[in-house]
Amino acid sequence: MADGPVIQIDKPIVLLGMMGAGKSSLGVRLGEALGLKFRDADTEIEKAAQMSIPEIFENHGETAFREGERRVILRLLTEGPQVLALGGGAFVNDETREQILAQAHSIWLDVPLDELVRRVQKKPGKRPLLAGQNVRAKLSELQEARAPLYAKADLKVDVGGGTHEDAVARLVKALQTRLTTPKDA
Ligand code: S3P
Repeated sequence: MADGPVIQIDKPIVLLGMMGAGKSSLGVRLGEALGLKFRDADTEIEKAAQMSIPEIFENHGETAFREGERRVILRLLTEGPQVLALGGGAFVNDETREQILAQAHSIWLDVPLDELVRRVQKKPGKRPLLAGQNVRAKLSELQEARAPLYAKADLKVDVGGGTHEDAVARLVKALQTRLTTPKDA
């Protein structure tokens, strides 16, 4: 655990941001640092559907995926303090976003486009929205459309560079500041 005030986590911590932002890999480590369980919304959707995300898109389409995503996240939000990593599009849904803002601490993991492109290219085939696309153009389009919604998160942390440890330390620090500073300060 990083130096600084001990924080009491009273509700879920939700990590959001673009594909390739590191929501899952940092989420696991943040959970360890805070002594909280880690949940990955995409993994929970796959378990519920008994299919991978690319298979859900292929067999049922994006609309069905988004509906499953909304239901799974609303359920996970009722399960108490945890670190919850979202898929990149989840926070775009009005109901999901409103419930997260009401019931969780939300953190936008911000990463520059060049770095997102580099990271997602390491795992081709995992992300149906990028299949057959110019990856940079598609990520850029999605990032531009989503940034105003991501900006509604409680916190924004730049995790575009440095080691995982650096990034987790920045996340813990941001949470410490938020949870130990009176809201009207
Ligand atoms: C998506 C992001 C993916 C996954 C799905 C759609 C998106 O999750 O939920 O492929 O709309 O940005 P990651 O952000 O974990 O890649």
